[in-house]
Amino acid sequence: MPKILVSGGAGYIGSHTVVELLNVGHEVIIVDNLINSSREAVHRIQQITGKQVALHVFDLQDTHKLDSLFEQNTDIEAVVHFAGLKAVGESVKKPLLYYRTNIDATLSLLEVMEKHEVHKLVFSSSATVYGSAPIPYSESSPAGQGITSPYGQTKYFIEQIVTDAANANPDNQFSILRYFNPIGAHESGLIGEDPLGIPNNLMPFVAQVASGRREKLSIFGNDYQTPDGTCVRDYIHVVDLAKGHVAALEHLQTGTNTFNLGSGKGTSVLELVNAFTDTTGQEVVYEFADRRDGDLPAFYANPRKAADELGWKTEKTIHDMCRDTWNWQSKNPNGYTDNKEI
Ligand code: NAD
Ligand code: UD1
Repeated sequence: MPKILVSGGAGYIGSHTVVELLNVGHEVIIVDNLINSSREAVHRIQQITGKQVALHVFDLQDTHKLDSLFEQNTDIEAVVHFAGLKAVGESVKKPLLYYRTNIDATLSLLEVMEKHEVHKLVFSSSATVYGSAPIPYSESSPAGQGITSPYGQTKYFIEQIVTDAANANPDNQFSILRYFNPIGAHESGLIGEDPLGIPNNLMPFVAQVASGRREKLSIFGNDYQTPDGTCVRDYIHVVDLAKGHVAALEHLQTGTNTFNLGSGKGTSVLELVNAFTDTTGQEVVYEFADRRDGDLPAFYANPRKAADELGWKTEKTIHDMCRDTWNWQSKNPNGYTDNKEI
């Protein structure tokens, strides 16, 4: 059974991906410093799958600890690299923290992989690297222009680092996955997104308003040049996204290969809010507010390359995403701090 190291595997996308990796028979070990996640997520992964996962709690920037981990696990075959900081607004206020953490963690990982001759990597990038490119975004669209945050810049810079590292050794097989907007949760309701403090992203905020934890949603802008004036995004169910990682690992090729992981369909903020109420029966109180700095009016994926080359496409609908978000939220109103006995 191939052993996969998952950095950031206790986090939102990482935990769902670990479940899918275990489901197809991989052995998984996680490195996570738990700066934005909880041990409980790993207990829940074990509960869902009935399989054991080793969690190693340390910072990926600690190259010595990472080196020791690879020394103790000489059978690591591939790495899926999620670990990093991801709050866009915080990255504007603390750019050096973001550059240091996200880039250093990746350099540390690539160095240790090279030393231990681990040649397979899947890296979490973001549609944010397309910046001001015309929509729909294809992998061949220009990237790196008009990126609106230091967080987004770290993703773009890391893509360059990963590409250069891949090219330096013909044994390397690296994949860069550009995610669109992941939402939803595992259908069990045992794992899901557990943001610290006030959520920045739309779906966790919607879910917390529906559950009564927040008073109302502010919809940032209703005067965009879109069908209903609110921003349009390509939402993807986190379980579909997780399965995209399994497909990417199965189709690694020499060098670097980049894939969009999105549905190809745009949904407006207002459509998502209405779909949430239609699906769950929960009212979401909202008001229109000013535009948020840095938001683009509309973007969505051209998902054809992943379909053609990975045999992967999204299967779940906006309805599924709303249902599963609400299932997670209502079973865990305060995230992983609740239901410790589960
Ligand atoms: P998350 O914060 O839930 O998961 C990241 C995990 O990495 C957390 O468990 C955190 O504790 C850990 N971590 C952070 N820095 C670390 C370090 N230096 N050493 C060890 N562990 C560290 O975020 P997520 O939503 O699951 O995102 C996973 C990856 O996907 C991130 O790289 C993120 O930038 C990228 N991404 C996320 C989205 C999204 O909307 N969620 C979109 C595009 C890309
Ligand atoms: C944001 C990041 C992007 C990152 C992605 C996933 C920016 C500019 N982009 O994307 O880099 O990869 O998150 O983490 O921040 N909205 C509201 N009210 C809210 C929250 C959001 O109206 O309380 C709207 C936003 O204006 C946007 C849409 O909902 O139009 C989606 O927002 P969000 O979930 O934050 O994702 P993005 O902005 O697309």
